[in-house]
Parts: sequence; C-alpha cells; structure tokens
Amino acid sequence: TRVGLVFGGASGEHAVSIRSAQTVLRGLRSGTNAERYRVSCFYIDRCGGWWPEAVATAVLERGLPADADALAGQPQPGGFRGFPEGALEMEVWFPVLHGPNGEDGTVQGLFTLMGVPFVGSGVLGSALGMDKQAMKAAFAAAGLPQVPYACVEASELDATHPGAQEALLERLESQLGYPCFVKPANMGSSVGISKAGDRAALLSGLELAAGLDRRLVVEQGVKARELECAVLQRRDGQGDGLSASVLGEIRFDADWYDYDTKYSDGLSHTVIPALVSEAVSARARAMALDACRAVAAGGLARVDFFYDEATGSLWLNEINTLPGFTSQSMYPMLWEASGLPLPDLVHELVLGAGR
Ligand code: DAL
Ligand code: MG
Repeated sequence: TRVGLVFGGASGEHAVSIRSAQTVLRGLRSGTNAERYRVSCFYIDRCGGWWPEAVATAVLERGLPADADALAGQPQPGGFRGFPEGALEMEVWFPVLHGPNGEDGTVQGLFTLMGVPFVGSGVLGSALGMDKQAMKAAFAAAGLPQVPYACVEASELDATHPGAQEALLERLESQLGYPCFVKPANMGSSVGISKAGDRAALLSGLELAAGLDRRLVVEQGVKARELECAVLQRRDGQGDGLSASVLGEIRFDADWYDYDTKYSDGLSHTVIPALVSEAVSARARAMALDACRAVAAGGLARVDFFYDEATGSLWLNEINTLPGFTSQSMYPMLWEASGLPLPDLVHELVLGAGR
C-alpha cells in the first residue's frame, strides 16, 4: 500500500509536527510494516506550500523546519498551490499535522474531496476537536464535567471602548476568579496560553491570545493532577471500535504545563500507568471514549483530564485529534504500555483509515 505521510504545516506547531513525523515514519518502516507499506513523505512549509519527497526527507533527517536556504531556487508559494509529484498516487494519507491547517479539518476536507482514505478524525471531529469553544460546547451538551470557563471574542477587547473592556474583565473575574488560564481557541501545545493571577496579567493574556485567534476561552485554574488517555479506533473493534489505553500522568516542576515544559528534555516526565485507583482509571477511560463520541472524533485521539485527589473530582480538559507523536509524547507511550508497540500502533492506524 502506498502511504502518504504529510507533516510540517502552516501552524505554530510546525516544529512539533516534524518530530512527530520522525516517529511515525520509524514505525511505518519497522519490521513487517516495511513490506506492507511504501511510504512517501511530503512536507508542508510554514506558508502552506507542499514539497516533494526530496525536501521532506531532508527536513526529517535534520529534524528542523526547512529554511529559506533549503528551499532556495524553488518557488515558495504562499498556501496550497497544488500537489508535488507523486502525491496523487497515494492510496492512504497519514496526516501528522498539529494545530490549525492540519488538525482542524482542513486537510481532512481535502482528502475527503479527493476520495482517498486518511488516518484520524474526519472533518467534523477534527474541527470540533480543534476549536476549544466548540469542543467545550459539545462536551457540555454531552453532560461531561469541565472546569468553569467563559468564551471571549477578541473584538470584546476593543481598546477604543475602555468601558467594554472593563466590563469584560469584571465578568471574567466574577465568573472565574484567579488564577485563570487564557487560551486562543484554535492552537495546540499550549501556544499562546498564559496563566493570569491578577487583572493586569488577565488583560495581557487576553491580548496575547487575541493576536493568534479571534475566539478565546478563559478557564478557572484548578489545582489538580494532569491525566491523559489515548484512544484508538480499531478496524475490527466491537461497536464503534473505540478503545482506551491505560492512563498516564504528566509531572512537571514548572508552574504549569507550557510549551517549553512540554518539549524540553527533562522539564516534564510521565508516569505510566498513572498511580490512581482502579475506579478513577475506569472513570477516565470511559470518559475518554465519551469525549470522542461527543465531538465525533475517530481514528485516534488523546484525551486530557484534571484530577483532584482531595475531592475525587475528574474534569475533562480537552481532546487532541492528532496528538503529539514525538519520541517523548504520551500517545505512543500509552499504547506501548497497553501492549501495542509503535509498529503495531501505526499499522492499526493505517488499517483504520476511512473506517
Ligand atoms: N498538540 C500537541 C501536539 C499534542 O496534543 O500532543
Ligand atoms: Mg490541544
């Protein structure tokens, strides 16, 4: 089978995607997979232009985004201007793209229109899973527990109406209090997220997030442990085929789990399986599947939770429909610990494409 692995992307998570793609490619070329799959890699630059195998391979080997030098002499388009050679021959697509323009239903729409099966959620699940406002609304409609939150539109920050801005800050303070987290609705890896402990920090956090997205969410900060569960939709699974891995826990010394803490060696570590009771684990795993169903996610997802041991509260934080696949990412590690090593995991994912 000819598999097209596409990575990079016009997203703040471009660099993470390259590291994820290295791991997925390793899995697709391991053991029996090497005979099953003929993998071609395609690189999407930061502007959205697609590049052929030779460029993609060089980027994967370096592990760094292609710079102007690497692309020198070649036309650098802004946005999608067509496929590079070979792309139309792919029988299955494996998008390893994180964040906007890849995890959000856009690329999924392209493959849907082409009629070629692809790994992961379809247009609806990807779009709902990406936008934190829409995701939270879907979770709320399904009756799933979440920490208190508020939706904000960037236009509400309009500095030409100081009265409106004041009213917004007062509303957030009375609804959520401090500390709270300000997030752009459509980002991943904590890009653009900040923690606010007072009004000045809240305002600058809102301004930062508003620079990245028109839609924002603000969440009450809870003191809780961070648990994660990996979901895989197996082609031959019963019912809708969704199955949940063992739980993992993220531990870190930083104040909160920001971008640097996520991706710098040694700043965070994972405990797998998470040291929680069987009852909490069962609740979280069931909730992970409910979260997927609430947003129509399929194929794969990582569902993140907050767990307060003192009260036993378990809140859904979010779903990621194209979770990180780097060598230090939870998703592949959770499946490894659940008895599905990387080559088997990526094989299952390709088999599930278009289910
Ligand atoms: N958004 C990052 C890649 C994750 O969910 O792991
Ligand atoms: Mg996310």
